[in-house]
Amino acid sequence: MLSIAILGSGKGSNAQSIIDAIKAGTLNARIVCVLADVQDAFILDRARQNGIPAYYIDCAPFKTKLEGAAEQKVIDILKKHGADLIVLAGFMRMVKSGLLRAFPGKIINIHPALLPNFPGLHSWKQALDGGAKVTGCTVHFVDEGMDTGPIILQKEVPVLAGDTPESLHARIQVQEHIAYPEALRLISEGRLRIEGRRVVVTN
Ligand code: GAR
Repeated sequence: MLSIAILGSGKGSNAQSIIDAIKAGTLNARIVCVLADVQDAFILDRARQNGIPAYYIDCAPFKTKLEGAAEQKVIDILKKHGADLIVLAGFMRMVKSGLLRAFPGKIINIHPALLPNFPGLHSWKQALDGGAKVTGCTVHFVDEGMDTGPIILQKEVPVLAGDTPESLHARIQVQEHIAYPEALRLISEGRLRIEGRRVVVTN
């Protein structure tokens, strides 16, 4: 069975959608641990409420990346729990070569836009400011770049007249909560293959 570790920084609604899919029996996987770089992140409470080991990782002195002693600590915890897939769910730091080398091809992320459009932060606001008519979310493998790895799947979300950054993000999150369990199901069933920059889905 697929052993998933989740890294996050915030409220953890994506983590919840994965917990719910496992509980509903629609995803054959287990969550072996949840890690957060924010001490009071609600994602840690969600893990504890579900009996999942939860860890706060102090990532100082770095503000935007996971590197150095904290990176090594994360690797040690992930190995200790036997994680074979690392799921970034609202983890607001760049992962660097140490973690990528420790779990090659085994780290995925969800991004709140249709990549390659609007990488980086506050992508829903970027979409609004850029006048996009359609945006969405993307599940992708993680590489050294910012939101550049091979794409597993995407869900579209219309931008509506009168949308605020908050209303648009909320609508994107509805699709995220469908997309992440769906991508994980493909991985758990061994149906994804990376060919260069492309992900191929097999039946
Ligand atoms: C999600 O919308 C996710 O796509 C985004 O943060 C939110 C986390 O929500 N991630 C990024 O912007 C990464 N660049 P959650 O904590 O409720 O899962």
